[in-house]
Amino acid sequence: MNRSENILPSVVDAIGATPLVQLNRITRGMPGRILAKLEYFNPGLSKKDRIARQIIEDAEADGSLRPGQTVVELTSGNMGTGLALVCGSKGYPFVAVMSRGNSAERARMMAALGAEVVLVAQLPGGKPGQVSGGDLDLVEQEAQRIVRERDGFRADQFNNAGNARAHFLHTGPEIIRQSAGRLDAFCDFVGSGGSFAGCAAAFKQYKPAIRCFVVEPAGAAVLAGEPASNPQHRIQGGGYSRPQLPLIKPEHIDGYIQVTDDEATHMARRLAREEGIFAGFSSGANVAAAMKLLEGRCRGQSIAVLINDSALKYLSTDLFD
Ligand SMILES: Cc1ncc(COP(=O)(O)O)c(C=O)c1O
Repeated sequence: MNRSENILPSVVDAIGATPLVQLNRITRGMPGRILAKLEYFNPGLSKKDRIARQIIEDAEADGSLRPGQTVVELTSGNMGTGLALVCGSKGYPFVAVMSRGNSAERARMMAALGAEVVLVAQLPGGKPGQVSGGDLDLVEQEAQRIVRERDGFRADQFNNAGNARAHFLHTGPEIIRQSAGRLDAFCDFVGSGGSFAGCAAAFKQYKPAIRCFVVEPAGAAVLAGEPASNPQHRIQGGGYSRPQLPLIKPEHIDGYIQVTDDEATHMARRLAREEGIFAGFSSGANVAAAMKLLEGRCRGQSIAVLINDSALKYLSTDLFD
């Protein structure tokens, strides 16, 4: 028997190539389908491992990251986890700067992976689990201070083109291959916008008719041009009420969908109970938005979504109460 080994040199090489699953139970009786890309199969349990690897390897290649230099990043937890495992495996010290409003298990996971975690207090009146754009501005200021103090390398997920490139080179093409190109639409809850930007660019390059929709929290749909009347929503990881996201190309946006906290939570619970998919608030938001498309603008069509992270990251919250 010809046996060949199939062993990866490091956990960094285990990032990507995640499964694509059709949500047959949630969509029972409806025409069309929802294809869910299970990004919690990545080693850090989220899609952000992909961009952590891309940003660090791009910076190694172009010399902007020196051997042994400290890496610093603002994170809602997932990017920090991805960077913690990539930096840990490659030998860079890593400082994760996060709002106290994000769930505690994220900080513990990053610390366990060797990161130095700096927690930044929320604005007066801020509630745990509800990180606003204002809270994020404070985290940004602290991240910038630490970069200056330590002469650090800032991964800068909101501006670094490697963020979108990871999804353009990998996530999007994987979905195209796995669905044999039978795809009509994509919708994505936006934080930095990197996933939307990269996947939309890959889909439009493959087939310009694939429609791409931005998903935002109801009450914080600033990209759709609405005022931020409820910036303190509960969909962690995005919806920061930032009207400008440098990575997103406006010509790739075919429409906007809004999802309430209750819709996102309810769908995350249905995903767990009916599909065995154990995912967080923003994954619930993506599937809730895809259901709206299937019932309306994309009736009968094939829609792809990302399942962004694992619900293990929210066990301290009331997501499953
Ligand atoms: C759980 C979760 N959902 C959604 C997002 C938003 O993804 P992106 O920054 O690619 O827009 C993030 C980003 O941190 C996240 O952690």
